[in-house]
Amino acid sequence: MNILVVGSGGREHAICHAVARSSRADKIYCAPGNAGIAELAECVPIGAMEFDKLVDFAKDKAIDFAIIGMDDPLVGGIVDRFEAAGIKTFGPRENAAILEGSKAFSKELMKKYGIPTAAYETFTDPEKALSYLKTAKLPIVLKADGLALGKGVLICNTLEEAEDGVRTIMQEKKFGDAGNTLVIEEFMTGREVSVLSFTDGKTIQLMSSAQDHKRAFDGDEGPNTGGMGTFSPSPFYTEEIDQRCKEEIFQKTVDAMAAEGRPFVGVIFFGLMLTEDGPKVLEYNCRFGDPEAQVVLPRMKNDILDVMEACVDGRLSELKLDFEDNAAVCVVLASKGYPVSYDKGFAISGLEKFDNRQYFCFHAGTAKDENGQTVTSGGRVLGVTAKGASLAEARKNAYAATEWVGFENKFMRTDIGKEFV
Ligand code: AMP
Ligand code: GLY
Repeated sequence: MNILVVGSGGREHAICHAVARSSRADKIYCAPGNAGIAELAECVPIGAMEFDKLVDFAKDKAIDFAIIGMDDPLVGGIVDRFEAAGIKTFGPRENAAILEGSKAFSKELMKKYGIPTAAYETFTDPEKALSYLKTAKLPIVLKADGLALGKGVLICNTLEEAEDGVRTIMQEKKFGDAGNTLVIEEFMTGREVSVLSFTDGKTIQLMSSAQDHKRAFDGDEGPNTGGMGTFSPSPFYTEEIDQRCKEEIFQKTVDAMAAEGRPFVGVIFFGLMLTEDGPKVLEYNCRFGDPEAQVVLPRMKNDILDVMEACVDGRLSELKLDFEDNAAVCVVLASKGYPVSYDKGFAISGLEKFDNRQYFCFHAGTAKDENGQTVTSGGRVLGVTAKGASLAEARKNAYAATEWVGFENKFMRTDIGKEFV
Protein backbone atom coordinates (compact mmCIF):
# COMPACT_ATOMS: atom_id res chain seq x y z
CA MET A 1 0.00 0.00 0.00
CA ASN A 2 1.08 3.58 -0.64
CA ILE A 3 0.55 5.59 2.52
CA LEU A 4 0.28 9.33 3.16
CA VAL A 5 0.60 10.60 6.73
CA VAL A 6 -0.47 14.21 7.32
CA GLY A 7 1.31 16.13 10.09
CA SER A 8 4.79 17.09 11.24
CA GLY A 9 5.29 16.43 14.95
CA GLY A 10 6.54 13.73 17.27
CA ARG A 11 3.13 12.08 17.08
CA GLU A 12 3.35 11.78 13.30
CA HIS A 13 6.91 10.43 13.63
CA ALA A 14 5.56 7.73 15.99
CA ILE A 15 2.76 6.98 13.50
CA CYS A 16 5.28 6.73 10.64
CA HIS A 17 7.39 4.32 12.72
CA ALA A 18 4.37 2.11 13.31
CA VAL A 19 3.46 2.24 9.61
CA ALA A 20 7.03 1.41 8.61
CA ARG A 21 6.86 -1.72 10.80
CA SER A 22 3.84 -2.94 8.81
CA SER A 23 4.53 -5.57 6.18
CA ARG A 24 1.73 -3.99 4.13
CA ALA A 25 3.37 -0.59 3.72
CA ASP A 26 5.18 0.01 0.45
CA LYS A 27 5.91 3.67 -0.13
CA ILE A 28 5.31 6.09 2.78
CA TYR A 29 4.88 9.83 2.25
CA CYS A 30 4.46 12.45 4.93
CA ALA A 31 3.19 16.02 4.47
CA PRO A 32 4.93 18.09 5.59
CA GLY A 33 6.95 15.81 7.93
CA ASN A 34 10.22 16.72 9.63
CA ALA A 35 13.91 15.75 9.60
CA GLY A 36 13.30 12.54 11.59
CA ILE A 37 10.30 11.44 9.57
CA ALA A 38 12.43 11.89 6.45
CA GLU A 39 14.40 8.77 7.47
CA LEU A 40 11.25 6.66 7.09
CA ALA A 41 9.08 8.49 4.61
CA GLU A 42 9.39 10.81 1.67
CA CYS A 43 8.50 14.23 3.07
CA VAL A 44 6.54 16.54 0.80
CA PRO A 45 6.41 20.28 1.42
CA ILE A 46 2.63 20.62 1.58
CA GLY A 47 1.03 22.05 4.71
CA ALA A 48 -1.59 20.06 6.61
CA MET A 49 -4.26 22.67 5.82
CA GLU A 50 -3.57 22.80 2.08
CA PHE A 51 -6.38 20.39 1.24
CA ASP A 52 -6.46 20.92 -2.53
CA LYS A 53 -2.74 20.31 -2.88
CA LEU A 54 -2.88 17.29 -0.59
CA VAL A 55 -5.72 15.71 -2.56
CA ASP A 56 -3.92 16.36 -5.88
CA PHE A 57 -0.73 14.88 -4.46
CA ALA A 58 -2.55 11.79 -3.13
CA LYS A 59 -4.21 11.18 -6.50
CA ASP A 60 -0.96 11.73 -8.36
CA LYS A 61 0.94 9.23 -6.19
CA ALA A 62 -1.89 6.66 -6.13
CA ILE A 63 -2.15 6.80 -2.35
CA ASP A 64 -4.12 3.80 -1.07
CA PHE A 65 -4.51 4.97 2.49
CA ALA A 66 -4.17 8.37 4.19
CA ILE A 67 -3.67 8.88 7.92
CA ILE A 68 -4.41 12.26 9.46
CA GLY A 69 -2.45 12.92 12.66
CA MET A 70 -3.41 16.48 13.54
CA ASP A 71 -6.56 18.06 14.91
CA ASP A 72 -6.73 21.19 12.71
CA PRO A 73 -7.17 19.42 9.36
CA LEU A 74 -9.56 16.88 10.91
CA VAL A 75 -11.77 19.59 12.37
CA GLY A 76 -11.50 21.44 9.03
CA GLY A 77 -12.94 18.47 7.11
CA ILE A 78 -9.89 16.96 5.43
CA VAL A 79 -11.30 13.43 5.65
CA ASP A 80 -14.44 14.40 3.71
CA ARG A 81 -12.23 15.92 1.02
CA PHE A 82 -10.04 12.84 0.71
CA GLU A 83 -13.05 10.53 0.66
CA ALA A 84 -14.72 12.63 -2.03
CA ALA A 85 -11.60 12.04 -4.12
CA GLY A 86 -11.91 8.28 -3.54
CA ILE A 87 -9.00 7.97 -1.10
CA LYS A 88 -9.46 5.73 1.91
CA THR A 89 -8.63 7.85 4.94
CA PHE A 90 -8.18 7.20 8.64
CA GLY A 91 -9.71 9.85 10.88
CA PRO A 92 -13.13 11.30 11.71
CA ARG A 93 -15.16 13.24 9.16
CA GLU A 94 -15.83 16.90 9.88
CA ASN A 95 -19.20 16.18 11.50
CA ALA A 96 -17.52 13.82 14.00
CA ALA A 97 -14.26 15.73 14.56
CA ILE A 98 -16.49 18.38 16.17
CA LEU A 99 -16.14 16.20 19.28
CA GLU A 100 -12.80 17.99 19.73
CA GLY A 101 -13.56 21.03 17.58
CA SER A 102 -16.31 22.40 19.81
CA LYS A 103 -16.28 22.10 23.57
CA ALA A 104 -19.88 23.36 23.67
CA PHE A 105 -20.84 20.45 21.38
CA SER A 106 -19.00 17.84 23.43
CA LYS A 107 -20.39 19.12 26.73
CA GLU A 108 -23.92 19.05 25.38
CA LEU A 109 -23.42 15.54 24.03
CA MET A 110 -22.23 14.33 27.43
CA LYS A 111 -25.14 15.98 29.17
CA LYS A 112 -27.68 14.55 26.73
CA TYR A 113 -26.35 11.00 26.98
CA GLY A 114 -25.46 10.98 30.68
CA ILE A 115 -21.69 10.71 30.28
CA PRO A 116 -19.95 11.93 33.47
CA THR A 117 -18.24 15.32 33.11
CA ALA A 118 -17.93 18.60 35.02
CA ALA A 119 -21.10 20.70 35.39
CA TYR A 120 -21.07 23.65 32.99
CA GLU A 121 -22.88 26.54 31.30
CA THR A 122 -22.37 27.86 27.76
CA PHE A 123 -22.35 31.56 26.82
CA THR A 124 -22.25 33.59 23.63
CA ASP A 125 -22.88 36.92 25.39
CA PRO A 126 -19.96 38.16 27.52
CA GLU A 127 -22.28 40.20 29.78
CA LYS A 128 -24.26 37.07 30.66
CA ALA A 129 -21.03 35.18 31.32
CA LEU A 130 -19.83 37.97 33.61
CA SER A 131 -23.03 38.06 35.62
CA TYR A 132 -23.06 34.24 35.92
CA LEU A 133 -19.56 34.38 37.41
CA LYS A 134 -20.79 36.44 40.36
CA THR A 135 -22.74 33.44 41.66
CA ALA A 136 -20.29 30.71 40.63
CA LYS A 137 -18.06 28.72 42.96
CA LEU A 138 -14.27 29.26 42.78
CA PRO A 139 -11.94 28.08 41.37
CA ILE A 140 -13.73 28.03 38.04
CA VAL A 141 -12.66 26.89 34.57
CA LEU A 142 -13.15 28.92 31.37
CA LYS A 143 -12.86 27.20 28.01
CA ALA A 144 -12.89 28.79 24.59
CA ASP A 145 -15.26 26.66 22.50
CA GLY A 146 -13.02 26.00 19.50
CA LEU A 147 -9.47 24.78 18.83
CA ALA A 148 -6.90 27.03 20.46
CA LEU A 149 -3.68 25.01 20.20
CA GLY A 150 -4.44 23.51 23.59
CA LYS A 151 -4.28 26.95 25.18
CA GLY A 152 -7.93 27.98 25.37
CA VAL A 153 -8.48 26.75 28.94
CA LEU A 154 -8.12 29.12 31.90
CA ILE A 155 -8.32 27.97 35.50
CA CYS A 156 -9.29 30.97 37.60
CA ASN A 157 -8.86 31.17 41.37
CA THR A 158 -10.46 34.58 41.93
CA LEU A 159 -13.48 36.41 40.54
CA GLU A 160 -11.17 39.09 39.09
CA GLU A 161 -9.15 36.48 37.20
CA ALA A 162 -12.32 34.91 35.87
CA GLU A 163 -13.72 38.28 34.76
CA ASP A 164 -10.43 39.08 33.03
CA GLY A 165 -10.58 35.66 31.41
CA VAL A 166 -14.04 36.28 29.97
CA ARG A 167 -12.84 39.58 28.48
CA THR A 168 -9.65 37.98 27.11
CA ILE A 169 -11.47 35.12 25.44
CA MET A 170 -14.76 36.70 24.34
CA GLN A 171 -13.95 40.37 23.77
CA GLU A 172 -10.23 40.65 23.04
CA LYS A 173 -10.52 37.33 21.15
CA LYS A 174 -7.12 36.10 22.26
CA PHE A 175 -7.90 32.69 20.74
CA GLY A 176 -9.71 34.14 17.73
CA ASP A 177 -13.12 32.79 16.75
CA ALA A 178 -12.55 29.87 19.14
CA GLY A 179 -13.74 32.36 21.78
CA ASN A 180 -17.10 33.26 20.19
CA THR A 181 -18.66 30.76 22.54
CA LEU A 182 -17.44 30.21 26.07
CA VAL A 183 -17.92 27.19 28.30
CA ILE A 184 -17.74 27.91 32.04
CA GLU A 185 -17.12 24.73 33.92
CA GLU A 186 -16.92 23.41 37.46
CA PHE A 187 -13.34 22.88 38.70
CA MET A 188 -12.57 19.22 39.35
CA THR A 189 -9.72 17.71 41.33
CA GLY A 190 -8.06 14.34 40.90
CA ARG A 191 -5.52 12.53 38.76
CA GLU A 192 -5.53 13.09 35.03
CA VAL A 193 -5.22 10.07 32.77
CA SER A 194 -5.31 9.79 28.98
CA VAL A 195 -6.96 6.82 27.35
CA LEU A 196 -6.70 6.52 23.58
CA SER A 197 -8.98 4.28 21.58
CA PHE A 198 -9.68 3.10 18.06
CA THR A 199 -13.27 3.11 16.88
CA ASP A 200 -15.07 2.23 13.66
CA GLY A 201 -18.21 4.13 14.67
CA LYS A 202 -19.78 1.12 16.42
CA THR A 203 -17.05 -0.88 18.16
CA ILE A 204 -14.46 0.76 20.39
CA GLN A 205 -11.17 -0.79 21.46
CA LEU A 206 -8.91 0.80 24.03
CA MET A 207 -5.19 1.33 23.79
CA SER A 208 -2.97 1.22 26.86
CA SER A 209 -3.44 4.20 29.22
CA ALA A 210 -0.95 7.07 29.44
CA GLN A 211 -0.22 10.15 31.47
CA ASP A 212 1.10 13.50 30.31
CA HIS A 213 3.16 16.16 32.12
CA LYS A 214 1.88 19.47 30.78
CA ARG A 215 3.78 22.03 32.86
CA ALA A 216 7.19 23.25 31.71
CA PHE A 217 9.20 22.66 34.90
CA ASP A 218 9.82 19.94 37.48
CA GLY A 219 7.19 19.51 40.17
CA ASP A 220 4.46 20.65 37.75
CA GLU A 221 5.60 24.26 37.99
CA GLY A 222 5.71 26.87 35.27
CA PRO A 223 3.56 27.54 32.24
CA ASN A 224 1.45 24.98 30.39
CA THR A 225 3.08 23.41 27.35
CA GLY A 226 2.13 21.00 24.60
CA GLY A 227 3.48 18.26 26.89
CA MET A 228 6.95 17.72 28.40
CA GLY A 229 6.79 13.96 28.75
CA THR A 230 4.54 10.96 29.10
CA PHE A 231 4.47 7.46 30.44
CA SER A 232 2.37 4.40 29.71
CA PRO A 233 0.60 2.63 31.30
CA SER A 234 -0.69 4.82 34.13
CA PRO A 235 -0.62 3.07 37.53
CA PHE A 236 -3.68 5.13 38.50
CA TYR A 237 -5.74 3.62 35.72
CA THR A 238 -6.72 0.49 37.63
CA GLU A 239 -8.91 -2.43 36.50
CA GLU A 240 -11.74 -1.02 38.57
CA ILE A 241 -11.54 2.39 36.93
CA ASP A 242 -11.22 0.78 33.52
CA GLN A 243 -14.42 -1.17 34.19
CA ARG A 244 -16.28 1.99 35.21
CA CYS A 245 -15.07 3.89 32.16
CA LYS A 246 -16.19 1.03 29.95
CA GLU A 247 -19.66 1.15 31.50
CA GLU A 248 -20.09 4.90 31.78
CA ILE A 249 -17.93 6.61 29.16
CA PHE A 250 -16.31 4.80 26.23
CA GLN A 251 -19.04 2.87 24.43
CA LYS A 252 -21.60 5.50 25.44
CA THR A 253 -19.59 8.16 23.61
CA VAL A 254 -19.35 6.10 20.43
CA ASP A 255 -23.05 5.26 20.58
CA ALA A 256 -23.97 8.88 21.28
CA MET A 257 -22.07 10.07 18.21
CA ALA A 258 -23.72 7.40 16.06
CA ALA A 259 -27.16 8.32 17.43
CA GLU A 260 -26.50 11.96 16.50
CA GLY A 261 -25.81 10.90 12.92
CA ARG A 262 -22.10 11.61 13.39
CA PRO A 263 -20.45 8.17 13.47
CA PHE A 264 -16.89 8.60 14.71
CA VAL A 265 -14.21 6.67 12.83
CA GLY A 266 -10.65 7.08 14.03
CA VAL A 267 -8.97 7.69 17.36
CA ILE A 268 -10.91 9.09 20.29
CA PHE A 269 -8.61 10.39 23.00
CA PHE A 270 -10.40 10.52 26.34
CA GLY A 271 -8.87 13.06 28.72
CA LEU A 272 -10.13 11.79 32.07
CA MET A 273 -10.08 13.17 35.59
CA LEU A 274 -10.24 10.49 38.26
CA THR A 275 -12.37 12.33 40.82
CA GLU A 276 -13.69 11.16 44.18
CA ASP A 277 -17.03 10.57 42.47
CA GLY A 278 -15.45 8.42 39.78
CA PRO A 279 -13.90 9.06 36.39
CA LYS A 280 -15.16 12.10 34.46
CA VAL A 281 -14.37 13.39 30.98
CA LEU A 282 -12.19 16.52 30.92
CA GLU A 283 -12.01 16.66 27.17
CA TYR A 284 -12.22 14.62 24.01
CA ASN A 285 -9.62 14.79 21.27
CA CYS A 286 -10.24 13.41 17.81
CA ARG A 287 -6.70 12.06 17.20
CA PHE A 288 -3.71 10.54 18.95
CA GLY A 289 -2.17 12.63 21.75
CA ASP A 290 1.23 14.19 21.36
CA PRO A 291 3.35 12.99 23.23
CA GLU A 292 0.98 10.16 24.24
CA ALA A 293 1.39 8.44 20.85
CA GLN A 294 5.14 8.30 21.52
CA VAL A 295 4.65 5.93 24.50
CA VAL A 296 1.55 4.04 23.34
CA LEU A 297 2.34 3.14 19.71
CA PRO A 298 5.79 1.61 20.36
CA ARG A 299 4.04 -0.82 22.75
CA MET A 300 1.31 -1.86 20.30
CA LYS A 301 1.82 -5.34 18.86
CA ASN A 302 -0.80 -5.10 16.09
CA ASP A 303 -0.04 -4.01 12.57
CA ILE A 304 -1.27 -0.42 12.67
CA LEU A 305 -2.52 -0.56 9.07
CA ASP A 306 -4.68 -3.61 9.88
CA VAL A 307 -6.25 -1.75 12.78
CA MET A 308 -6.77 1.53 10.94
CA GLU A 309 -8.20 -0.16 7.87
CA ALA A 310 -10.58 -2.20 10.05
CA CYS A 311 -11.81 1.10 11.54
CA VAL A 312 -12.47 2.62 8.13
CA ASP A 313 -14.14 -0.58 6.89
CA GLY A 314 -16.37 -0.86 9.97
CA ARG A 315 -15.01 -4.25 11.07
CA LEU A 316 -12.99 -3.40 14.17
CA SER A 317 -14.91 -6.07 16.11
CA GLU A 318 -12.96 -8.70 14.13
CA LEU A 319 -9.66 -7.56 15.66
CA LYS A 320 -8.20 -7.58 19.12
CA LEU A 321 -5.74 -4.90 20.15
CA ASP A 322 -2.64 -6.26 21.79
CA PHE A 323 -0.05 -4.36 23.81
CA GLU A 324 3.31 -5.44 25.15
CA ASP A 325 3.25 -6.17 28.86
CA ASN A 326 5.85 -3.53 29.67
CA ALA A 327 6.10 0.23 30.10
CA ALA A 328 7.39 3.20 28.15
CA VAL A 329 8.52 6.68 29.16
CA CYS A 330 8.97 9.65 26.82
CA VAL A 331 11.05 12.65 27.89
CA VAL A 332 10.71 15.74 25.72
CA LEU A 333 13.93 17.58 24.92
CA ALA A 334 12.98 21.21 24.46
CA SER A 335 14.82 24.43 23.70
CA LYS A 336 15.55 26.49 26.78
CA GLY A 337 12.90 29.19 27.10
CA TYR A 338 10.07 27.09 25.67
CA PRO A 339 7.09 27.72 25.68
CA VAL A 340 7.74 31.49 25.79
CA SER A 341 10.71 32.28 23.56
CA TYR A 342 13.73 30.32 22.44
CA ASP A 343 16.49 30.24 19.85
CA LYS A 344 16.71 27.66 17.10
CA GLY A 345 19.10 26.39 14.43
CA PHE A 346 21.47 24.47 16.74
CA ALA A 347 23.11 21.26 15.47
CA ILE A 348 21.85 18.05 17.08
CA SER A 349 24.23 15.13 17.77
CA GLY A 350 23.76 11.53 18.90
CA LEU A 351 20.66 10.70 16.87
CA GLU A 352 22.26 7.58 15.39
CA LYS A 353 22.36 5.84 18.78
CA PHE A 354 18.69 4.83 18.88
CA ASP A 355 17.84 1.25 17.92
CA ASN A 356 14.13 1.96 17.17
CA ARG A 357 13.14 -1.16 19.07
CA GLN A 358 13.70 -0.30 22.69
CA TYR A 359 14.93 3.26 22.26
CA PHE A 360 13.26 5.79 19.98
CA CYS A 361 13.99 9.42 19.25
CA PHE A 362 10.85 11.03 17.84
CA HIS A 363 11.44 14.35 16.14
CA ALA A 364 9.15 17.30 16.71
CA GLY A 365 10.89 20.63 16.01
CA THR A 366 13.82 19.63 13.82
CA ALA A 367 14.95 20.54 10.31
CA LYS A 368 17.91 19.95 8.01
CA ASP A 369 20.18 22.92 7.39
CA GLU A 370 21.83 23.63 4.02
CA ASN A 371 24.66 21.17 4.85
CA GLY A 372 22.26 18.34 5.62
CA GLN A 373 22.87 18.66 9.36
CA THR A 374 19.84 18.09 11.61
CA VAL A 375 19.20 21.23 13.64
CA THR A 376 16.65 22.44 16.19
CA SER A 377 13.71 24.28 14.67
CA GLY A 378 11.09 24.43 17.40
CA GLY A 379 10.36 24.65 21.11
CA ARG A 380 9.81 20.96 21.62
CA VAL A 381 12.68 19.43 19.66
CA LEU A 382 12.72 15.68 20.31
CA GLY A 383 10.84 13.06 22.31
CA VAL A 384 13.15 10.40 23.70
CA THR A 385 11.17 7.23 24.38
CA ALA A 386 12.45 4.08 26.03
CA LYS A 387 10.74 0.87 26.98
CA GLY A 388 11.41 -1.22 30.08
CA ALA A 389 9.92 -4.12 31.99
CA SER A 390 8.51 -1.66 34.54
CA LEU A 391 7.91 2.09 34.63
CA ALA A 392 11.00 2.44 36.82
CA GLU A 393 13.14 0.65 34.27
CA ALA A 394 11.63 2.51 31.32
CA ARG A 395 12.28 5.78 33.12
CA LYS A 396 15.91 4.86 33.83
CA ASN A 397 16.39 3.87 30.19
CA ALA A 398 14.72 7.02 28.85
CA TYR A 399 16.81 9.35 30.99
CA ALA A 400 20.00 7.45 30.06
CA ALA A 401 19.08 7.94 26.40
CA THR A 402 18.50 11.69 26.84
CA GLU A 403 22.25 11.89 27.55
CA TRP A 404 23.07 10.48 24.11
CA VAL A 405 21.60 13.54 22.42
CA GLY A 406 23.34 16.90 22.42
CA PHE A 407 22.30 20.38 21.27
CA GLU A 408 22.80 23.86 22.60
CA ASN A 409 20.11 25.07 25.03
CA LYS A 410 18.82 21.51 25.55
CA PHE A 411 16.22 21.54 28.30
CA MET A 412 14.06 18.83 29.86
CA ARG A 413 12.10 17.97 32.96
CA THR A 414 13.94 15.55 35.22
CA ASP A 415 10.86 14.14 36.94
CA ILE A 416 8.82 12.44 34.21
CA GLY A 417 7.20 9.38 35.84
CA LYS A 418 9.29 9.94 38.95
CA GLU A 419 6.59 9.41 41.55
CA PHE A 420 6.41 5.71 40.71
CA VAL A 421 10.07 4.95 41.19
P1 AMP B 1 -8.51 20.58 28.24
O1 AMP B 1 -7.94 21.25 27.02
O2 AMP B 1 -9.99 20.63 28.35
O3 AMP B 1 -7.93 19.21 28.49
O4 AMP B 1 -7.93 21.39 29.46
C1 AMP B 1 -6.53 21.52 29.65
C2 AMP B 1 -6.18 21.21 31.07
O5 AMP B 1 -6.92 22.07 31.96
C3 AMP B 1 -6.58 19.81 31.49
O6 AMP B 1 -5.62 18.88 31.14
C4 AMP B 1 -6.71 19.97 32.98
O7 AMP B 1 -5.45 19.95 33.62
C5 AMP B 1 -7.27 21.36 33.12
N1 AMP B 1 -8.74 21.33 33.23
C6 AMP B 1 -9.63 21.37 32.23
N2 AMP B 1 -10.89 21.31 32.69
C7 AMP B 1 -10.81 21.23 34.02
C8 AMP B 1 -11.76 21.14 35.08
N3 AMP B 1 -13.07 21.15 34.85
N4 AMP B 1 -11.31 21.07 36.34
C9 AMP B 1 -9.98 21.07 36.60
N5 AMP B 1 -9.03 21.16 35.66
C10 AMP B 1 -9.41 21.24 34.39
N1 GLY C 1 -0.94 15.67 25.00
C1 GLY C 1 -2.22 16.24 24.88
C2 GLY C 1 -2.74 16.33 23.51
O1 GLY C 1 -2.19 15.80 22.57
O2 GLY C 1 -3.76 16.98 23.34
